[in-house]
Amino acid sequence: MRNLIDITDLSVQELDSLLTLGEEMIARPQDYRDSQRGRILATLFFEPSTRTRLSFESAMLSMGGSVLGFASPDASSTSKGESLQDTIRTVSCYCDIIAMRHPREGAPVAASFRSFVPIINAGDGGHNHPTQTLTDLMTIRRHLGELSGHTIGLCGDLKFGRTVHSLINAMSRYEGNRFVLISPQELRVPAYLTDMLREKGIPFAEVERMEEVMPELDVLYMTRVQRERFFNEADYVRLKDTYILDPEKLENARRDMIVMHPLPRVNEISTRVDDDPRAVYFDQVRNGRYVRMALITRLLEVNA
Ligand code: NCD
Repeated sequence: MRNLIDITDLSVQELDSLLTLGEEMIARPQDYRDSQRGRILATLFFEPSTRTRLSFESAMLSMGGSVLGFASPDASSTSKGESLQDTIRTVSCYCDIIAMRHPREGAPVAASFRSFVPIINAGDGGHNHPTQTLTDLMTIRRHLGELSGHTIGLCGDLKFGRTVHSLINAMSRYEGNRFVLISPQELRVPAYLTDMLREKGIPFAEVERMEEVMPELDVLYMTRVQRERFFNEADYVRLKDTYILDPEKLENARRDMIVMHPLPRVNEISTRVDDDPRAVYFDQVRNGRYVRMALITRLLEVNA
């Protein structure tokens, strides 16, 4: 069974072709209107979500398929003490594919061992978020033309930000990319990622201030400080407003840089940035629906 647990489950060629299919779906949505009729997607969300869950559901509905699931574990037998394994085995009898989010790192891979249908990781704790990365890659490709040769600044909570981890894993597989990791000491990227970059000889820098690196960047990827992963509220309160992007800070950025954010944002991007043509975070939202249409299509195809 092919699942999508980690972004590296897809080869670079598969990634590229998925993005191309997603773009075709943006261009001609009517051609895919009935392509999944009779198929069922389950969305099992053990953690809060707005975009990821609804974009998965919108994706399946846009292709004529159906959806079922729950948006919170309180609404499932998890609240009665059922194990994840049993829940997954059960739901996989009712659907053709599952998208799941869970607070525990590794839960989707554990689920995949018990499931009769393909599993898509829609976020596992502070670990990975491969489908946000598909959205991010599509957005970068549509705005900058290609996925190679960029300087990518990632800013904020690089320790717990799962979208950052998956994006670094993906972009490090394309030629000529360079990373600028902007975070407070306590929220630096996990060592397994910087070790990977060093091993592959991919250039990166770790800095604490965004102002000094702004002019170098092709992409500035802002993130929210992940309150739910902190052990104590005081640390969260101290760190939450470390970076606030505003139009003044953007004055030193390139005219063709793009500002990304997986959303939800809290304070880290001033709403005054929203009308800047470089702000593409709501394009990411839109692309998320189509790239998930492409992903569901391909996974159902290869597992047929
Ligand atoms: C992200 C997530 O859930 O990791 N949101 C999303 O899926 N677009 C980012 C976040 O919650 O900060």
